[in-house]
Amino acid sequence: MHVEGSDFLYHAPISAHGDESQFMNTLFMHCRPGFEGEVCSEIADHAARLGVAGYAKAKPQSACAEFICHEPAGPERLMAQLRFSDLIFPRQWARGDFVQLPETDRISVLLEHLVEFPRCGSLWLEVLDTNDGKELSNFCKKFEAPLRKALIQAGRLVDDPQLPRLLLTFKSGREVFLGMAPADNLAMWPMGIPRLKFPREAPSRSTLKLEEAWHHFIPRSEWDERLHGDMTGVDLGAAPGGWTYQLVRRGMLVTAIDNGPMAESLMDTGLVTHLMADGFTYRPKQTVDWMVCDIVEKPARNAALLETWLGENLCREAVVNLKLPMKQRYAEVKRLLERIEDGFRDRGIKVQIGCKQLYHDREEVTCHLRRLEGAKR
Ligand SMILES: C[S@@+](CC[C@H](N)C(=O)[O-])C[C@H]1O[C@@H](n2cnc3c(N)ncnc32)[C@H](O)[C@@H]1O
Repeated sequence: MHVEGSDFLYHAPISAHGDESQFMNTLFMHCRPGFEGEVCSEIADHAARLGVAGYAKAKPQSACAEFICHEPAGPERLMAQLRFSDLIFPRQWARGDFVQLPETDRISVLLEHLVEFPRCGSLWLEVLDTNDGKELSNFCKKFEAPLRKALIQAGRLVDDPQLPRLLLTFKSGREVFLGMAPADNLAMWPMGIPRLKFPREAPSRSTLKLEEAWHHFIPRSEWDERLHGDMTGVDLGAAPGGWTYQLVRRGMLVTAIDNGPMAESLMDTGLVTHLMADGFTYRPKQTVDWMVCDIVEKPARNAALLETWLGENLCREAVVNLKLPMKQRYAEVKRLLERIEDGFRDRGIKVQIGCKQLYHDREEVTCHLRRLEGAKR
């Protein structure tokens, strides 16, 4: 792995550059600005493991990265062998190519390129999470209706949720990444940005982090079974109560651990017990359904907490934030996740582990763990 100039460049698994002009040899990914290097490391790591030759590149603060495959089938193979939801840093992905657009009649040029694409079942127009991207979003809104109409007329777009999704990411009015992704293997929301409404009664904005985590880690169809009113939860580092609010909203009885004060509105629900205790030493008397932890601490300490709570059957599911280190952020998260996994293997228990940099995460990632067997009531 090496960095050239101000760009990131990561090879996997062979170092010779292939023919970049091949059709659809690029896997394009969105990310939070500043995390392009992490996306490159992560995708290069997976590509090396899966034997897909190519290299990842990105410009710092561009909010995107590319993996250029040496064979045209490379991106499709990556998409077939990886679940998008399992990737930590990418917010969206698509396979395809960059297309230069003229100032007028962009649609004809796009239709020409789309001849090489299979028919798609839905369409998203996206921009990157940068200032330029924000400025382009109005252009996209205006462009979407005529483009959609032309695609339908040309038979390129039909209304079929099973078919791949056509994804256009505009870098400017003159350059677009024309790509597609399997409809069941891409971000849940356009650009990977959830449209969650801040609940006015919630005591802090970080309430949206836990709500987003649930959307990401728990299928909507399982919410009633896994997040319901007969359950109990512990919130470590709870004050003022944004995460407790989400547990209470689902009707749970919550023990909130923090030396700081909890919002009175939450205490008034009668569902919250507030204990001024240390989140790292507190243990519940009985197994709880949920443990959530938003304490800003060294990631290794929060990871150890996860291992203890799931490993000692103190909870069945957990959502915990891991603060990212300054450097080698992907490598460090991977190392911590592997350590947690090894810990569970040594204990002989099965735990499902997920990790994502959510839209509401800044210098952190969110982990979700669920005990799959051996859980006692
Ligand atoms: C980021 S805030 C939590 C915000 C909360 N999740 C919300 O949505 O309102 C972190 C909290 O962790 C608490 N904290 C820090 N160290 C702690 C510890 N060792 N035990 C318990 N709480 C701790 C702080 O007092 C602070 O209120």
